[in-house]
Amino acid sequence: MTRILAIESSCDETAVAITEGGKLLANVIATQVSVHEKYGGVMPEIASRLHAENITVCLNEALAKSHLALSDIDAFAVTRGPGLIGCLHVGLQAAKTLAMLYQKPLIPVHHLAGHIYANEYAGNFIYPLLCVVVSGGNTELVVMKGDLDFAIVGETMDDAVGECYDKVARVLGLPYPGGLPIDQHAKLGQPTYELHPPRMPHDTLDFSYSGLKTQVINLVNTLKMKGEPVRLDDMARSFQDVAIKMVVDRAMRAAKKYAVKQIVLAGGVSANSHLRERMKEESAKRKLDLIIPPLWCTTDNAAMIAKVAERLYERKVFAPLTLGVDPNWRIDEWDKFD
Ligand code: KG4
Repeated sequence: MTRILAIESSCDETAVAITEGGKLLANVIATQVSVHEKYGGVMPEIASRLHAENITVCLNEALAKSHLALSDIDAFAVTRGPGLIGCLHVGLQAAKTLAMLYQKPLIPVHHLAGHIYANEYAGNFIYPLLCVVVSGGNTELVVMKGDLDFAIVGETMDDAVGECYDKVARVLGLPYPGGLPIDQHAKLGQPTYELHPPRMPHDTLDFSYSGLKTQVINLVNTLKMKGEPVRLDDMARSFQDVAIKMVVDRAMRAAKKYAVKQIVLAGGVSANSHLRERMKEESAKRKLDLIIPPLWCTTDNAAMIAKVAERLYERKVFAPLTLGVDPNWRIDEWDKFD
C-alpha cells in the first residue's frame, strides 16, 4: 500500500499528513493564527519564519502518530502554489530534501485542488460537477468534467471573499480571521443597513468584493462622524447577506449553464453557516447533489494535499528536484511545472 507524506505551508498553517493506501494516518496542523491576529492579517515574513521553525516538529509528530519512519514513505507531496512565496518555499525545500535523501518521487500539488479534493473525505464526486472555491486568497468557480479536469468559469476581479470578510471584520473591531466572528454576529442581527452588490453584467460568473468592502468602510466612517453607534450585529448581517448572495447566485447560474450534477464547496469560507444553509436550499430546489466539506477540512491542512497526491502518484506526475514554487499557479495548469 502506497504511503504518502504531504506538506502544506502556503499561508499561515504548517501542516503534515501521512496516508497509507488512501487511509489518513496522521494530520498535524500548527496554526499561526494567534501570532498574526494582532496585525489583523497574515504577515508574510513572520509566516515564513514560523513555517521554518514548525516544519520539523510537524514532520516528527506526523511520523510518530502513524508509527512510521521517513524510510517507510513512498512519495513526498507538497503544495507548490498558489500562496505566499516565502511560505511555499519552506514546504517545498523540506519536501525536496526528503525526496532527495530517500530517493523517492516528489509530487507537486495545487493548493486549490487540495481544497476541492478535501470533499472526498465527505462524499464521492459525480461529474460534471461545480466547485465553489471560497477562501482567504481565492474566489473561483471551477467546473470538473472528470478527475483532475479543471476549468475556471468564474473568478474574482479584485479581493477574495474571505479577504473581504477579514477586512470588514477589522473595520468593525472584530478579531482576525474575521469570517467566523462576522458569521456569529450576523446570526443575531437584521439586514437593516443598505449595502449593494457590485454593478456587473446580469449573467456574469465573476466576482468583485472590493466595492462591498469600501461601502462598509464608508458607512462605518460616516456613522462615526455623525456620532451614531454602529449596530454591529445588523452591520454583520447586512454585509453577510450581500457577500453570500453573490456566491450563491453565481454558483446556481454556473450550475445551470454547465449542466452539472453536483456542487462541492471548498476553502475556508465554506465554513460559513449562511452559505451552507443557502447552498443546501438552492441545490435542493434544483435537485442538485451537494457536498459540504466537514469543518475540519475547510481550513488549510495537508490531508487534502495527500488526497490529490494519491491520484498524482497513480498517474506518475512527479517533479524534478529543480522544482520551484509558483505563488500564482492556476488550477487549470496544475500539470504544468518545472
Ligand atoms: O482556506 P483558507 O484557510 O484561506 C486560504 O487558503 O486562502 O480560509 C481562510 C478564510 C479567512 O478569510 C476566514 O475569515 C474565512 O476563511 N472564514 C470564514 C468563516 N470561517 C473562516 N468566512 C466566513 N464565514 C466563516 N464562518
